[in-house]
Order: sequence, then structure tokens, then C-alpha cells
Amino acid sequence: MTITEVETERPEGILALQTLAMPRDTNANGDIFGGRLVSQMDLAAGIATKSVAKGRSATVAIQNVSFIAPVAVGSTVGCYTKLLKKGTSSMHFQVQVWISLLVGESMRKKVADGVFVFVALDSNSKKRSLPE
Ligand SMILES: CC(C)(COP(=O)(O)OP(=O)(O)OC[C@H]1O[C@@H](n2cnc3c(N)ncnc32)[C@H](O)[C@@H]1OP(=O)(O)O)[C@@H](O)C(=O)NCCC(=O)NCCS
Repeated sequence: MTITEVETERPEGILALQTLAMPRDTNANGDIFGGRLVSQMDLAAGIATKSVAKGRSATVAIQNVSFIAPVAVGSTVGCYTKLLKKGTSSMHFQVQVWISLLVGESMRKKVADGVFVFVALDSNSKKRSLPE
């Protein structure tokens, strides 16, 4: 699907992080490289953990990341997070990445998604139980 085609799907979850795709983040094809997107997704999930863990946490696993479409320089990139599962110390967040090309335009195309697992940590960097 191209950016101009009708996108019926909508972003799921909360807009946790928004950024602009910059030339310094491009791969050999001139598009944004996957590692840059994964780091933004990780940051977005990290922000989302704050309201659940009420303190420190760390990424313990990244699951099923898919890159669905390339991201062009100049795109606005939004990372949406949704809590899928809360365990004893762990949190599973779905992260979707959507882009738009024009300022103020709604997010129009999903370009990546994945599940980020975080573990709540205590002050000794050991796992701790999540608060109720
Ligand atoms: C997070 C950390 C403290 C957990 O260590 P641990 O005490 O041995 O953890 P456990 O194996 O008991 O797992 C803790 C929780 O994470 C979950 N978990 C651990 N590994 C997982 C994986 N690969 N996928 C999904 N969940 C995982 C467990 O199911 C458990 O969940 P629960 O408490 O909700 O039941 C340790 O793995 C660590 O320090 N990792 C490095 C974290 C880090 O530096 N991240 C930054 C990126 S490099």
C-alpha cells in the first residue's frame, strides 16, 4: 500500500513518542534504518512503563518486530503503545509505528510493529513485583 492509498486501520494505543525522520538516520537505500525505528519503539515502550511500574524498568525482550513499509526522510514518526499483559514483574507492550508526511496530518500508515517486554527493577537492578 502506498501513502496515498486509503488506510482503514487506525493506530492502536497511546501516542507515547513522536519524532521526525532525519537524513542522519538513513540506510543505503535512503530510508530510515530499522535499528533507529527499534530504538524509538524501545523508548516509547519505556515511557509507557512509567505509569505501570511506577519506577525503574528495563527491556528484557523484543518480540516479533515487523518492518512493514519504508520510512522516508521528513516523515513524522509516531510510536503508539498498548499494554498487552502485566505479569508479576513483567509488562508486555505492543508498539506500533505510524507515519504521516504533512505537518498536522493524522498518522496515515503503519510502518512497523512489535512487542516489547519490560521488567520492573528495584534500586539494585533486580526484578521487583509490579504495584497493583
Ligand atoms: C531484567 C532482569 C533483571 C531479569 O532477571 P531475572 O530476575 O533472572 O528475571 P526472570 O527470568 O525471573 O524474569 C522476570 C520476568 O521477566 C519475564 N521474562 C524474562 N525473560 C523474558 C523473555 N525473554 N521474554 C519474555 N519475558 C521474559 C519472566 O517471565 C518474568 O515475568 P513475571 O515476573 O511477570 O512472571 C535481567 O534479565 C536483566 O538485568 N536483564 C538486562 C536488562 C537490560 O539491561 N536491558 C536493557 C537492554 S540491553
